Amino acid sequence: MAETQVKPDAASRPIGEPLVVLEHVDKHFGSLHVLKDINLTVRRGEVVVVIGPSGSGKSTLCRTINRLETIDSGTIAIDGTRLPEEGRALARLRADVGMVFQSFNLFAHKSVLENVTLGPTKVKGLSRAAARTKANALLERVGVANQADKLPAQLSGGQQQRVAIARALAMDPQVMLFDEPTSALDPEMINEVLDVMVSLAAEGMTMIVVTHEMGFARKAAHRVVFMDGGQIVEESDPETFFTAPSSERARDFLSKILTH
Ligand SMILES: Nc1ncnc2c1ncn2[C@@H]1O[C@H](COP(=O)(O)OP(=O)(O)OP(=O)(O)O)[C@@H](O)[C@H]1O
Ligand SMILES: [Mg+2]
Repeated sequence: MAETQVKPDAASRPIGEPLVVLEHVDKHFGSLHVLKDINLTVRRGEVVVVIGPSGSGKSTLCRTINRLETIDSGTIAIDGTRLPEEGRALARLRADVGMVFQSFNLFAHKSVLENVTLGPTKVKGLSRAAARTKANALLERVGVANQADKLPAQLSGGQQQRVAIARALAMDPQVMLFDEPTSALDPEMINEVLDVMVSLAAEGMTMIVVTHEMGFARKAAHRVVFMDGGQIVEESDPETFFTAPSSERARDFLSKILTH
């Protein structure tokens, strides 16, 4: 019995071919060198947790992957296609990359259901009826089906983040980016969002997750990538990273997050 169940732990989940590939990516904000020669390959079905001190470039890295930020040099490819500069090709590629941010960024004047149906009808050309059916199923899946007609402000932070996940999933993304999705939440709401993320991982979604939630990393991540000063300083499996980090910078960072 047990062998046939989907297990959340990373070791039991297969990983496929390269899906998101960053090669020699550099980015400056003015004179600030925020991404320094980033090389990162995320495979289909892989869950990568990105961790590191404030200002190390984690959010910028996420934002370059769906081209909310441009890069100065290097390449980023998704499923073998280089990120286009602009236009329809960019919109199409962006639909492949779902993103959930730290701050709840739902459309404030639209209902929960409309938040989830908007992308599929406008960008993917789904009929309203099909988009509603899909949205209801996704809201059910993240546990907020009974909130469909409310406005975002009428929901708790944890519920809003789960709607944000449903909204991203409605586009059938190939990869999901999460940028500190639980760091603005009250403690009692963190787990309800992490649980949804763990189940997504268990279903084989490719995920890049900026988070300091070690429990999530240990349970769901194949790999932890540690950034500092715009560089990937080290990467390893979660257990090795948290128990025996190889760099002084990672040891120093972990001693700080573990003591509060
Ligand atoms: N639009 C911008 N213009 C100028 N500088 C920026 C911009 N966005 C980010 N930065 C700077 O780039 C650096 C990296 O920022 P980034 O937000 O990627 O860090 P982070 O690792 O996500 O930090 P945090 O943990 O605080 O979210 C920081 O020094 C930040 O101040
Ligand atoms: Mg950030």
